[in-house]
Amino acid sequence: MGETAIDRFARMCYDGFLQGWHERNGGNLSYRMDENEMKEVSALFSTEPRHMDLPMTFEDLADECFIVTGSGRYMRNIPLAPEKNMGIIRIDGTGSGYSILWGLEDGAKPTSELPTHLLNHQVRSKATGGRCRVVYHAHPANITALTYTIAPDARTLSRILWQSETECAVVFPDGVGMVDWMVPGGTEIAKATAMQMDRYSAVVWAFHGIFGTGSDFDETFGLVHTIEKAAEIYLKAKGAGIVRTITDEELQELAKAFNVRLNRDFLNV
Ligand code: 13P
Ligand code: ZN
Repeated sequence: MGETAIDRFARMCYDGFLQGWHERNGGNLSYRMDENEMKEVSALFSTEPRHMDLPMTFEDLADECFIVTGSGRYMRNIPLAPEKNMGIIRIDGTGSGYSILWGLEDGAKPTSELPTHLLNHQVRSKATGGRCRVVYHAHPANITALTYTIAPDARTLSRILWQSETECAVVFPDGVGMVDWMVPGGTEIAKATAMQMDRYSAVVWAFHGIFGTGSDFDETFGLVHTIEKAAEIYLKAKGAGIVRTITDEELQELAKAFNVRLNRDFLNV
């Protein structure tokens, strides 16, 4: 057997840890599996899967299978003991509960942010014609620090990021969403996040971290990496004193050269 979806998932968790984005149990990851990926690992599945209820109904995700990280589990431990720190769940036909097919051993539960992950999958899958498969939550220091310096506003945040690194407008031409501080781990923050995920591939949580989405692990990790790097550059430049930046005209030239459509609401021209 070559590299399975479980292996690729575990590698991304560890890559995030190496970046310093996953202190303690911070951050979580989910991946919507396809049929072939399910077949590759089906020999591992439990014959008596544990069943759990969901706090809300996810009708559009009925019968979908996800790899998820465990609540309270550390990203740095995932490659060492995947069966204890992550698992595969199958959403019921009604979308109101799930079965644990593999992993999450010793009574572990999926991440406390499961409502946000599932709602984001539901919304992003629709927004991307089914392409979106990965939802990733991380606690990178620079993007989190940046949220202390601005109002919780997607336009302000997106303009800062676009101006801070030339790649940004090409990588996320729609911009990045932003949710003001809320208690994490429930259905309220899930709904507030998903309300923006129809427009943006990533949403920042004030004073907490970021949710990024994408069609595969590389795209999703790369998106969060790009946003975090831009935030780092912005904070460094701000500390040194910003005297000029990429202009809106230059952003438009960039969009033309790379054949992307920038979110016009976020431009001043
Ligand atoms: P979990 O350990 O439940 O995944 O929570 C970590 C986290 O980052 C909450 O926002
Ligand atoms: Zn978090």
